[in-house]
Amino acid sequence: MKRSTIAVMNTKGGVGKSTLVLAVAETLTAIYNKSVLVIDSDSQASVSSMLMTSMRLHKLQSEATTIVDLLANTVLQQQPLDWPKYVVAGSSDIDDATGLYLIPSDMQLTLFEREVSKESQHGALRSTIHELLDGVRSAFDIVLIDCPPGLSVLTESWLREADFHISPTKPDYISVCGLEVFRRFKALNPEMGFAENLGVVINLMDPNGAQDRDYDAWLRARAENRCFAQPIHRSVALQHITQFSPEGRSWLGKYPGAVGIAIKSIAGEILQRIEASDREKAAEATAASTPAIGPSPADETTKVASAS
Ligand SMILES: Nc1ncnc2c1ncn2[C@@H]1O[C@H](COP(=O)(O)OP(=O)(O)O)[C@@H](O)[C@H]1O
Ligand SMILES: [Mg+2]
Repeated sequence: MKRSTIAVMNTKGGVGKSTLVLAVAETLTAIYNKSVLVIDSDSQASVSSMLMTSMRLHKLQSEATTIVDLLANTVLQQQPLDWPKYVVAGSSDIDDATGLYLIPSDMQLTLFEREVSKESQHGALRSTIHELLDGVRSAFDIVLIDCPPGLSVLTESWLREADFHISPTKPDYISVCGLEVFRRFKALNPEMGFAENLGVVINLMDPNGAQDRDYDAWLRARAENRCFAQPIHRSVALQHITQFSPEGRSWLGKYPGAVGIAIKSIAGEILQRIEASDREKAAEATAASTPAIGPSPADETTKVASAS
């Protein structure tokens, strides 16, 4: 399987982006044996705080080893990109998730983004993100980028430079509108490049709610959404996973029953879809390099020459 970078994104907040990043990252490492890097690109640092104690996060933030420091040093200070310095190992409370790594975030990210806009450093930001994703792609099987809601210049850079995007969505009106805004944004400047849609994950679903079922059907009816087969139901177990447990726990203890089945199915489908996309691209490349059947212009020239 080709090593891939995936931006997890919806313009709407509270749809489960950070929760999905956490659950998929831990499942890919603990169950599917992949090395995974999570890049926290949200100034709220939600996924960072789900992956370590507040004390440890505070220490990393005080030591200036977060995504903000990485970007500020490279984009604003024009220093060489030294991304391994910012990668934190052993950042999960799951015993078997030893292959999970994190570049944490910090509230200061908002200030950095203001600075980038003020100094018109959008081009430098995009080339740093390109270089960063090239670097981490060569070191990890899967890179998951937890984006904040909205479409900031930083989020745009991830979306234009990552291989894929995944959009978690609630089965409700506003979240569906959030998807629509995102789709329009993607269509605006196709020449600038954009991540391929890996699919929509329907989250926070109430299987007994008639309205949720209607939105679920509506989302699935649009083929371009590429909805993942398994929805994630609203559950207390999933609310609990966001609280880091310093004592450690097993994957099964953290993702019990139906929650574990859903997350395992989604993580497995992510890997299958990446492989399917690789195969499609390889087939397209082969088709493009195979000469069309029929006489080539050179043959025609030879025929004309020999007839005269
Ligand atoms: N399937 C779910 N069941 C119950 N609570 C959930 C579920 N998914 C997410 N949540 C909760 O919803 C809130 C928002 O989730 P979060 O992942 O922070 O969303 P986002 O990153 O899109 O803003 C969090 O409190 C989280 O615990
Ligand atoms: Mg979030």
